[in-house]
Amino acid sequence: MSGRKQFIQQIGLMAGAFSVNSLFNQLHAAEISSANNKVKNLSPINVATDEDYWSVIQQAYTVSPNIINLNNGGVSPSPRVVQEAVERYNKLTNEGPSYFMWEILDQGREPLREKLASLAGCNKEEIVINRNATEALNTVILGLDLKAGDEVIGCKLDYPNHMNAWKQRAMRDGIVYKQLNFNFPVENDDEIVAAFENAITPKTKIIHVTHVINWVGQILPVRKISDMAHRHGLEVVCDGAHSFALLDFKIPDLGCDYFATSLHKFLSAPIGSGMMWIRQDKISKIWPLLANGDPRGTNIRKFETLGTRSFPIEQGIGEAINFQLAIGNKRKEERVRYLKNYWAEQVINIPRVKIKTSLKSAYSCAICGVSIDGIGPRELERILFNNYKIHTVPIDYENVSCVRVTPHVYTRLPELDKFVRAIGEIAAKK
Ligand SMILES: Cc1ncc(COP(=O)(O)O)c(C=O)c1O
Repeated sequence: MSGRKQFIQQIGLMAGAFSVNSLFNQLHAAEISSANNKVKNLSPINVATDEDYWSVIQQAYTVSPNIINLNNGGVSPSPRVVQEAVERYNKLTNEGPSYFMWEILDQGREPLREKLASLAGCNKEEIVINRNATEALNTVILGLDLKAGDEVIGCKLDYPNHMNAWKQRAMRDGIVYKQLNFNFPVENDDEIVAAFENAITPKTKIIHVTHVINWVGQILPVRKISDMAHRHGLEVVCDGAHSFALLDFKIPDLGCDYFATSLHKFLSAPIGSGMMWIRQDKISKIWPLLANGDPRGTNIRKFETLGTRSFPIEQGIGEAINFQLAIGNKRKEERVRYLKNYWAEQVINIPRVKIKTSLKSAYSCAICGVSIDGIGPRELERILFNNYKIHTVPIDYENVSCVRVTPHVYTRLPELDKFVRAIGEIAAKK
């Protein structure tokens, strides 16, 4: 191939995720669009149980046949199209990193910002592309102007990295970090909102709320908490690590001021990709975590002075969005909720088995906790893995004691049948 032809192909490859030539179009578009056509008159709830449809989605993944991965809460695999995009971008990068990375691949950043903004239902000038929810939330938590005595209300079941960020501010700046606790499941929004409201004092400035609690999958009523907080003149920081690209919402619907997520969870984007959203009028007041020449500026890009990082991973996000859009947010939410209910409703009546998560749609989707009386979380997790090759996560944290189970769109019903059988056998034995 002539040098010029190859060069033009490489440039085309860069535009990949944002063009009609995207890898998604080459690999999956025809198949998924034909599957979509067959179900186009069905509601998302009805499509949720259509195994023919989901078998097309399952085949787009390359997951190991040797284990059943029911921990998609920690991190999720990418479909083949995303993996191949990252591999191609990586190969291109290594043909001349400083040129292909900074002059070619980086041209994909603004189209990617637009695409993420469109998925999130917000202005692209409010979107930051970064590495994960931890980085995004630390940016907000450590970047807010707070002084000694200012109060922040969070929860003991928030994610440890962010509790630690608030604790560091307490140690360093003398802010007061208050933590609520809940006995989840709670199936009453008013009770949750009231707990936050009752903790407010004249010194409160911020409410930190986790949209989906990672330990047990409880969905919190972020909109109601935000509206209540704003009536008191407070700001709301929302951790959406487990909600974005799973629950069908637009970020502005939540009414919060700051939102952070990892894209390597339910979006199935490359591992090590994240996103932050800051309401436009709040951008100037947040100090960047990694300094920028205009730290008080209003340009959201001031948060992207990350130094050299993986451009292939970043650009691979585009193909994950193509894949997401082909399924549709609501369809995905209903399918994953169906998978959770599919197994949970079968084990709930087995003697000694306890379900630790609400099965009502408003309060859970993918994540659900399960325990067996007399068997600790770690022991149950080990038995599931050693005897059945089923991978889950043991949770023994604060007031939560269970094994956390999280299917994803590629999970197959026979895998859940095996899990249900395993729980039945283990509960019958000891
Ligand atoms: C609720 C919640 N927030 C934030 C994170 C951090 O995600 P990451 O490790 O991708 O930064 C996690 C990780 O599982 C989480 O469960």
